[in-house]
Amino acid sequence: MQTGVAATLGDTLVPTNPQRIGVPREIFPGEKRVATVPDVVEKLIKLGFSVAVESGAGIAADLSDDAYRAAGATVVESAAQLWATSNMVFKVRPPTPDEVAAMPEGQTLVSFIWPAQNPDLMQQLTAKKATVLAIDALPRTLSRAQKMDALTSQAGVAGYRAVIEAANAFGRFFNGQITAAGKVPPAKVFIAGAGVAGLAAIGTAASLGAIVRANDTRAEVADQVVSLGGEFVKVDYEEEGSGGGGYAKVMSAGFQQAQRAMYAKQAKEVDIIITTALIPGKPAPKLITAEMVMSMKPGSVIIDMAAEQGGNCELTEPGQSVVKHGVTIVGYTDLVSRLSRQSSTLYSTNLFRLTEELCKTKDGVINVNMEDDAIRGLTVTKDGSITWPAPAPKVAAVPAAAAKVAAAPAAKKAHGHGAPSEPMAANKLAIMFGVSAALFWFVGANAPQAFLAHFTVFVLACFVGYMVVWNVKPALHTPLMSVTNAISSIIAIGALVQIAPPLVVGAAGRPDDWIRWLAAAGIVLTSINMFGGFAVTQRMLAMFRK
Ligand code: NAI
Repeated sequence: MQTGVAATLGDTLVPTNPQRIGVPREIFPGEKRVATVPDVVEKLIKLGFSVAVESGAGIAADLSDDAYRAAGATVVESAAQLWATSNMVFKVRPPTPDEVAAMPEGQTLVSFIWPAQNPDLMQQLTAKKATVLAIDALPRTLSRAQKMDALTSQAGVAGYRAVIEAANAFGRFFNGQITAAGKVPPAKVFIAGAGVAGLAAIGTAASLGAIVRANDTRAEVADQVVSLGGEFVKVDYEEEGSGGGGYAKVMSAGFQQAQRAMYAKQAKEVDIIITTALIPGKPAPKLITAEMVMSMKPGSVIIDMAAEQGGNCELTEPGQSVVKHGVTIVGYTDLVSRLSRQSSTLYSTNLFRLTEELCKTKDGVINVNMEDDAIRGLTVTKDGSITWPAPAPKVAAVPAAAAKVAAAPAAKKAHGHGAPSEPMAANKLAIMFGVSAALFWFVGANAPQAFLAHFTVFVLACFVGYMVVWNVKPALHTPLMSVTNAISSIIAIGALVQIAPPLVVGAAGRPDDWIRWLAAAGIVLTSINMFGGFAVTQRMLAMFRK
């Protein structure tokens, strides 16, 4: 048996060490993406896996079989052979019934699955005793999971491409120009829905020089719209649009009426409308009516990104670009595939990050750890049973206020009066306080006066620092870390004062050697924090630069 190639006993897979990751060619019509690119093959091999790719899997994304071979993958001629000999399969589109039939029992599959929309597929996968990680089921509120968030990476590509399609169909420049041949006004772009795709579209359209406006039912995205160069247009109606978890909710009839009036006004003014409005699991809201289309200037363009879910525009034809009432209405459902190399690269990096989480031992053996919130959320079937939907993650980056309010009475109920956990915590706290008080008394009774003054300030600073940092949400830890640069600089100044020779002749002599050594160590440690902080800040800023 070749190393890294899973053996199949009849229809059952026998895991080998190292395990083999298989990447089949996508067979969904029009799908040009591939789940793993050659650069990522190299990284997977470094993690200890062997990688097999079906011949031609990357062709539509301009990735040849030779490029995969050069990266260290084995190129396999037939899909059947690939499925039969892989411990874990990476895919983009949910598997078809034929692909499920080709799966040996006990195989691990990582792919988009959409379990709510595909109950039959879920049954077929459990019958195969497969362990399936649905990349679309990732708990997106976990900040740790962002590196694996393929929904975000793919929607970002789609938002960018939507603007490029608009520019292609639009007969003018996006940016305003004053030339000898005349004055060209900038194009006006209105974006409905400022989620991931919408924000990417705002950034792209603004960078091309257009005047960009956007609307979303979730008021919290207004700042993000402005930071990307857009203007947030509010609906003249007070209603909170957030349904939790970063998604919208269905709005009241009153709101919808006010929103329609605002959209009708925008339709008359703008040249391009890009619609991305969606509430997961619901048909796309109809935001652009036939009358609004008729009121637009001839030559205007609508890109309806929600075409696959029924469309945000009444006149959209999914998958088609049509001209109605002089307006080009683009309902392409394959925007991500139209940038297949880029989207494949981002997707395969998401899968690589996931593989790192699955194989922390870096020995080519995966461990689907159901205690890990991110992995638990992704796992929709395991060893023959459906494990979807997962319970809410224990730690959310930004816990929803509503969830907290709802959870409070439930928690009270569970503990009841005098529940055991509370007094235990109180006991621990009392012991901690007792020991600390004794320590402070000892120090206070024996230490010199000058030390005590500094010590009091030190203890108070620790207390204030602890109270401040402890209440910061995990999602904000990175920006917080860069702020600690300032604190570190103060430590550095203190240490330098200790290490430097006295400036005034006749002043108190040089400090003891051991104090200077401590100060030197303090400078080294605080420098790591300072320069590390600057490096992190630099990386964060780079994310927002063009
Ligand atoms: P998302 O969930 O991040 O964003 C949707 C946004 O629409 C949210 O911000 C939500 O608050 C907003 N929204 C919902 N109802 C609204 C309403 N009535 N009025 C105004 N805003 C409203 O979703 P994402 O990832 O940005 O995707 C956006 C759309 O693009 C989805 O329909 C998705 O299926 C589609 N898409 C299409 C592709 C294509 O090839 N055509 C490729 C990728 C995504």
